[in-house]
Amino acid sequence: MTVETGKLAPDAVRTMFDRIAPVYRVLDACCGTGDLAIAGLRLVGSTGAVIGVDFSERMLERARSKSSQVEWVQGDALALPFADGSFDAATVGFGVRNLEDLEAGLRELRRVLRPGGRVGILEITRPRGLLRPFYKLWFDGLVPLAGKLLPGGSAYTYLPASVRRFPGAKELAELMQTAGFDQVHYRLFGGGIVALHTGVAR
Ligand SMILES: C[S@@+](CC[C@H](N)C(=O)[O-])C[C@H]1O[C@@H](n2cnc3c(N)ncnc32)[C@H](O)[C@@H]1O
Repeated sequence: MTVETGKLAPDAVRTMFDRIAPVYRVLDACCGTGDLAIAGLRLVGSTGAVIGVDFSERMLERARSKSSQVEWVQGDALALPFADGSFDAATVGFGVRNLEDLEAGLRELRRVLRPGGRVGILEITRPRGLLRPFYKLWFDGLVPLAGKLLPGGSAYTYLPASVRRFPGAKELAELMQTAGFDQVHYRLFGGGIVALHTGVAR
């Protein structure tokens, strides 16, 4: 890596900086009221930028009131208002389940990431094994019942329905691979009711 003069060869310098380069531009899609995007500020440090995107202006109003360090942008996750390869990393927290076309949404995340950029998707999933019958009773029985009894309860029927039609963790990993992500892995949390999928843009 060193040359005779003791200086670092240009290729080696570039390689070194490639290795230590911090993640500096992060997208949080479907950012809602912005908590995940705000947490992303720690990742980029003082030189980086976090952009939070949501199509709901009311959600963004709440987000804006929490932080002016994140750039809040109104936009559709299915047609993100950014050029190809604009971001080093992208996150989506409890958002992809709501997308009208999940596969198109995953392709769009891939499009705005640079090759080698990382994605993290946090989403509710249906547990397998022993917990499943209890989860079914709670999520398919008690939560929709609460929806009937409480004012403005349509969200309580929407939530279980949206999880029911959403692919399982393994299927989501496969869709991510098809959409252009490598090294796709997932971890389950909370006894298998939440999954974190990660991948690297091809
Ligand atoms: C359950 S909230 C999650 C918010 C936030 N990520 C969090 O973890 O707290 C889902 C958000 O996705 C947004 N959303 C759903 N479909 C979207 C789309 N196609 N484009 C942009 N935002 C969308 C909704 O407006 C909502 O704010």
